[in-house]
Amino acid sequence: MALVKMKDILTKAEQENYGVGAFSVANMEMVMGAIKAAEELRSPLIMQIAEVRLKHSPIHMIGPLMVAAAKEADVPVAIHFDHGMTMEKIKQALEIGFSSVMFDGSHYSLEENIQKTKEVVELTKQYDATVEAEIGRVGGSEDGSENIEMLLTDKQEAKRFAEETKVDALAIAIGNAHGMYKGDPNLRLDRLQEIDQQVEIPLVLHGGTGISADDFRKCIQHGIRKINVATATFHNVINTVNQSVETIPYSDYFVFHQDVIHAAYENFKYHMEIFGSCGRV
Ligand code: 13P
Repeated sequence: MALVKMKDILTKAEQENYGVGAFSVANMEMVMGAIKAAEELRSPLIMQIAEVRLKHSPIHMIGPLMVAAAKEADVPVAIHFDHGMTMEKIKQALEIGFSSVMFDGSHYSLEENIQKTKEVVELTKQYDATVEAEIGRVGGSEDGSENIEMLLTDKQEAKRFAEETKVDALAIAIGNAHGMYKGDPNLRLDRLQEIDQQVEIPLVLHGGTGISADDFRKCIQHGIRKINVATATFHNVINTVNQSVETIPYSDYFVFHQDVIHAAYENFKYHMEIFGSCGRV
């Protein structure tokens, strides 16, 4: 149990055909909500933070907190560095004890993405950690600060990328985007199916917020094993807090603290039940 490699979590999910939530956290309350949901539902958990969020939650503070929470958990928890952009930060995350890192080279040419991803794979060998990378380009940016255009993943490129880089998990673009979708998401399940037939490693779906339960299940049927969810959690927390303030303003800080944990927990639980990861430990 406790802190495990993300690869181990995803291998079991692949064998038993379910998905695992990779939930972004920003503070201790969200970490507590995630561990509570995973322990109650007996679900494996991937907890993550993206490099762009470190301006709010510095890695030297939130990183050790996440790792410590995983070590104490009685379910398997992987701590993942999401959308790593720089070698410096990826190395820092690994030094802190993250058991998994993503290198996001989706804005580079295919050749450059392969080359840089290989360097990250080489680095992680010293730490026995898992590596995720991205091929094609997921729409939007993780923190909504940039309007990154979507580029659907090509199945042949995905196959070549996975074989040459030897990454453990591959994030793909099939119409998914970070943040809130404008209208209903239009996921290209046909494209996912083609990629799944070509690529042997577990596939990752970014931009989980706004995707329907039905689409999540279809994606899992076609090889998606890790599903990233961020915005939905942040929204559930602020909506809960706003509602409380409208009815009875907080007078006790610790009631607020408890509400933040609970709102995050509710969102993690909702997704774990859809993804089919409950009772898998
Ligand atoms: P959402 O914010 O759309 O849930 O996406 C999260 C994500 O993909 C993090 O990498």
